Amino acid sequence: MITFPENVQTSYKLPPQATEPRWYQTARAIIQPIENLDWHQKKYGDIFISRFAGFPTQVIISNPQAIQELFTADAKLFESGSGNKVIQPLVGTNSLILLDGDRHLQQRKLLMPPFHGERMKAYGNLICEIANQITSQWQVGQSFIARPNMQEISLKVILSAVFGLKEGERYQKIQQILVEMLDTFNAPLSVVFLFFQSLQRDLGAWSPWGKFIRRRQQLDELIYQEIRERRHQADSPGEDIMSLLLSARDENGQPMSDEELRDELMTMLFAGHETTAIALAWALYWIHYVPEVREKLLQELNSVDISSADPTTIAQLPYLNAVCSETLRIYPIVFFSLPRILQAPMQLMGYDLPKGMTISACIYLTHHRPDIYPEPQRFRPERFLERQFSPYEFVPFGGGNRRCLGMAFALFEMKLVLTTILSHYSLELLEKAPIKPVRRGIVFTPAGGVHLMVKDKF
Ligand code: HEM
Repeated sequence: MITFPENVQTSYKLPPQATEPRWYQTARAIIQPIENLDWHQKKYGDIFISRFAGFPTQVIISNPQAIQELFTADAKLFESGSGNKVIQPLVGTNSLILLDGDRHLQQRKLLMPPFHGERMKAYGNLICEIANQITSQWQVGQSFIARPNMQEISLKVILSAVFGLKEGERYQKIQQILVEMLDTFNAPLSVVFLFFQSLQRDLGAWSPWGKFIRRRQQLDELIYQEIRERRHQADSPGEDIMSLLLSARDENGQPMSDEELRDELMTMLFAGHETTAIALAWALYWIHYVPEVREKLLQELNSVDISSADPTTIAQLPYLNAVCSETLRIYPIVFFSLPRILQAPMQLMGYDLPKGMTISACIYLTHHRPDIYPEPQRFRPERFLERQFSPYEFVPFGGGNRRCLGMAFALFEMKLVLTTILSHYSLELLEKAPIKPVRRGIVFTPAGGVHLMVKDKF
């Protein structure tokens, strides 16, 4: 039975709902996420109601027209931040992801500029330098796991571009603690700590949540130290995003508080580095899993003088762009958009959705529609050269007023890191069987992390 969010009249025509018990739906969503989604899609179609323990009843959509309505509706029709409490332990209450209404809009305006245009281009050389620095340790004959290696790159990129941190003791400590903290959610089942607030209890330094809390405290101390030091150096701001936020003032001329700054920095760290690292690990997997893709990509890269090319020229290479898009299509890093909670009743695909109902676009199911993406299970970058997909058909970064803040940054980073690797190394995929995504916290990552070997170094 559905528990209605408000006093819903029985005359409402609701979408079909999964009838399995809530605990069963939750367990399948955690353990067999893809099979579960495919099964629901087959049984109920483009719109259905799903129920997960610890979450309100959700309407899941995978129809581009419905997604367009969701992403283009008046922003006041939905709240989203209040539906994201699950990540509050990581990012704090002032995080953009948890805000709604005017405060959300105001923070987005403040955070947007550094992720676009000229400002972002300045990060191009930094990204290539970091990718070169990390990969220069690879030796011929050595095997490695792509995900943690790519995470080292993306974490360093965020710490340098967003925090403006220089190599040193604090940098090393932040890096180490953050990786340990995110590893709390390494096993698919560990996500229950985020889903169920009742499990978020500090039962001592050795209990999973206790460990997480202690690491977070250590990390907070380091971030607050950095903020305090940087406030004192305000007369010589850097190019990084923290410098920009330190000098920002609201309409009353007030700067951001230390807590607000900490929460936004944690948001960018949390939302930005693991997602990009996973996307890179998948891209390396697919490029080496489908030999024709690697060949075509190398051909394109060889047509440019990589050592002297402007990073923005590299970012415009069409086949490289298609490979990155197809990587994000076939196994999106995030399977759902942020939830949208209706503030007034809405009609969607002929159904009546009451106020209080939560709607989420299912990115995975949308990207696997055979009517938009023929042979959806096949990795075929050419589809992105043959056709332009609408922003409601191709949605790896969500859309509307909550669209991923770091979209341009993440794509730029993916392209530059892949180019740096492919132009210096010949790699071999060591995986024998096809890899499937598994849950890691709230993102989906290649099972086993993608094992590769260095065949040659140029
Ligand atoms: C491949 C990498 C990435 C993927 C696949 C990804 C995906 C997403 C998705 C699906 C959303 C939800 C959008 C919606 O509900 O409409 C989102 C939101 C967000 N992302 Fe990303 N993201 C990536 C990288 C980044 C980076 C590099 C940053 C920042 C440095 C970032 C910061 C954010 C923030 C702050 C939000 C919340 C926006 C809001 O609530 O207004 N992401 N991302």
